[in-house]
Amino acid sequence: NFIFYLKGLNPVAQSVMEKFHCQHVIIVPGDSDQDEAIKKQLGKEAARNLISFLKNRDIVAVTGGTTMAQIPRSMTPASGFEDVIVVPGRGGLGERVELQSNTIAAELAEKLGAQYRLLYVPDNLGADAMESVVNEPGIKEVIATIRQASILLHGIGGAEEMARRRGLSEEEVGEILKKGAVAEAFGFYFNKEGMIVHTTTSVGLSIKDLKNIRTVIAIAGGASKAPAIQAFLRYHHPTVLITDEGAARRLLEIE
Ligand code: G3H
Repeated sequence: NFIFYLKGLNPVAQSVMEKFHCQHVIIVPGDSDQDEAIKKQLGKEAARNLISFLKNRDIVAVTGGTTMAQIPRSMTPASGFEDVIVVPGRGGLGERVELQSNTIAAELAEKLGAQYRLLYVPDNLGADAMESVVNEPGIKEVIATIRQASILLHGIGGAEEMARRRGLSEEEVGEILKKGAVAEAFGFYFNKEGMIVHTTTSVGLSIKDLKNIRTVIAIAGGASKAPAIQAFLRYHHPTVLITDEGAARRLLEIE
């Protein structure tokens, strides 16, 4: 059974915790590269953790992606969170609508019986257009709310896949890879050493806000994502890393 299996994975979680100095590591059995259904388990664990950390008046920021999308979809409706506000972490970042942080924020708020604020700012606006949009009072207020997030749930992706999924040109993809990017999380690209090498033009959470967030829950699985997860963990130690067995075992093997 699942709990027994999780216990079986405890030594792996312990080793990942020690290697990457994480406070908590949760590993679900399987590998989401091989079986999409494992993402549902990642989503369920993320929802369970979110609820255990959630306090009255929290502002919860969420990012996008196929893994994050499973959080509201795998959770049963909760109550008692009327004072919680759910927001997208950053702008749309060029994902398909069902994978965008706005969509996930609204779905999660509905499951929690919480409030939500959405951010409608297209990515990759020119500097002048961006400047005037972010100064619109309604948008300014949402951005201010996002920057006060007390909980962040985010995915981690491979740099190349994410750059392509976000519709960057071949030239831009090439440039990002030339800078050594291996990971992407909420619009920031990291190299193997965990240094930011590229930032997407988008608004919302700034990387400096990360250290002020009380609880950061990172959710990413699949053995192929191990180099990306490793790079991100070198930049930041999330409160909880929720991953799968495939990624965790690979994380312990790679240098
Ligand atoms: O920023 C990282 C991505 O949101 C991860 O997307 O869960 O679809 O792999 P994914």
